[in-house]
Amino acid sequence: MTTPSSPSLSAASAPRGGCPAHAADTPVPLSGPAFHTEPQALYRTMRHSYGPVVPVELPGGFPAWLVVGYRELHQVTSDGELFPRDVGLWNQWEHIPEDWPLLPMVGRPMPSIYFTAGAEHRRHAELVVPALEAADPFEIREHCEQLADRLVDGIAPRGTADLVADFAEPLPVLVLARLVGFPDAEGADIARVLKDLADGGPGAQEAYGRFGAHMRRLVAAKRAAPGDDVTSRMLADPEPFTDEEYALDLMAITAAGHLTTADWISNSLRLMLTEDQFADSLAGGRRSVGDAMNEVLWEESPTQILAGRWAVRDTQLGGRTIRAGDMLLLGLGAANTDPLIRQEAVSGGAGHHAANGSHLAFSHGEYRCPFPAQEIAETIARTAIEVILDRLPDLRLAVPAEELVRRPSAFLRGMNALPVRFAPVHTTGDLL
Ligand code: HEM
Repeated sequence: MTTPSSPSLSAASAPRGGCPAHAADTPVPLSGPAFHTEPQALYRTMRHSYGPVVPVELPGGFPAWLVVGYRELHQVTSDGELFPRDVGLWNQWEHIPEDWPLLPMVGRPMPSIYFTAGAEHRRHAELVVPALEAADPFEIREHCEQLADRLVDGIAPRGTADLVADFAEPLPVLVLARLVGFPDAEGADIARVLKDLADGGPGAQEAYGRFGAHMRRLVAAKRAAPGDDVTSRMLADPEPFTDEEYALDLMAITAAGHLTTADWISNSLRLMLTEDQFADSLAGGRRSVGDAMNEVLWEESPTQILAGRWAVRDTQLGGRTIRAGDMLLLGLGAANTDPLIRQEAVSGGAGHHAANGSHLAFSHGEYRCPFPAQEIAETIARTAIEVILDRLPDLRLAVPAEELVRRPSAFLRGMNALPVRFAPVHTTGDLL
């Protein structure tokens, strides 16, 4: 397949001001192991060679811009009128094949909070955000404790576990399934469906269908018998939506909160199991669970690169000429370590930002992760870590730290697996 260059990406653009495909700077392929083995080193090199806005090439040869400068990313996400999250604007659609591997992640325009823009997006946000906000934080904590304990019951007698597959990945979905109103039995199947979707393998398409079917059934069930949950609150909102819109918004909520929160848990546990400065927290120094979690949001935020934003018209950004319809990838992970805002990052003095929340892990602006969602994520991640440290206080890695493998993705930062060992703990249940 030849790499198309759309009419808007004309070669007229000056060097460093040029369009991604024709910039004098050879676009950086957005693939390869460096994006998950040493992303910060890669971002440093990119920033040094290309500046805050980098021409990149997506799989299949499609051009885009990667924004790695903190200020430029703040500028883009603060201007939803010029740079909406409107994938429909993309000037490459005519060239994108149906089986393009990034299509499920980039998405297509559809009537959900995640794939609408402007007034329509605000309409969906005004439905979803209050429904999340009304969830009782104490109840959320209780759900997290119960479900985390249940997952630990499953591994405690074994003495070994993979904390990603056995704990960090299923827990957020089980909690979110309860919050939106699913009985636990269905929560477990949704965890399997989302795993198949996230793996992006041959079963992904079928898994997407099952995911939608679960949500449509839930909408019908809550219409018949409302409860104290997110879905019932959305249905009670006077603003009219179709059942398909409710189902798509519930899919957006659950999918947006799944791997991100799972990676926050596993990245924080990795940090606590490998970095001396957190060693004492394993002995009960709970004060540093929050430090580790904040450190992760700055240094290895779960969403590293987000697709993204699309330019409504020709404009300038970070010394580059951006054409109408160009894709801007948000380099959230890179912006968080931009030396312009993080002197200590340059001096390697990490860890000084314990209480500082001005990282961009949740993005920024009108399309950012909703505040109640951030709080739900924080409660799930913190409770998960506290429960497992309580129940398995002698938790330790089962392999040398350098053998740990990251999720093979440029977009998400997480662990492929986190093998651990601990003294087997037999609960009354498994002795019977
Ligand atoms: C560590 C955990 C999480 C991270 C790092 C994270 C990050 C993000 C990011 C980067 C975006 C896109 C923002 C943009 O386009 O500018 C987003 C959007 C969103 N997230 Fe989260 N998220 C997390 C957890 C959650 C959870 C638990 C929920 C649900 C309870 C959730 C619900 C959403 C929704 C609904 C959106 C779309 C918001 C909109 O378009 O208005 N997220 N999140």
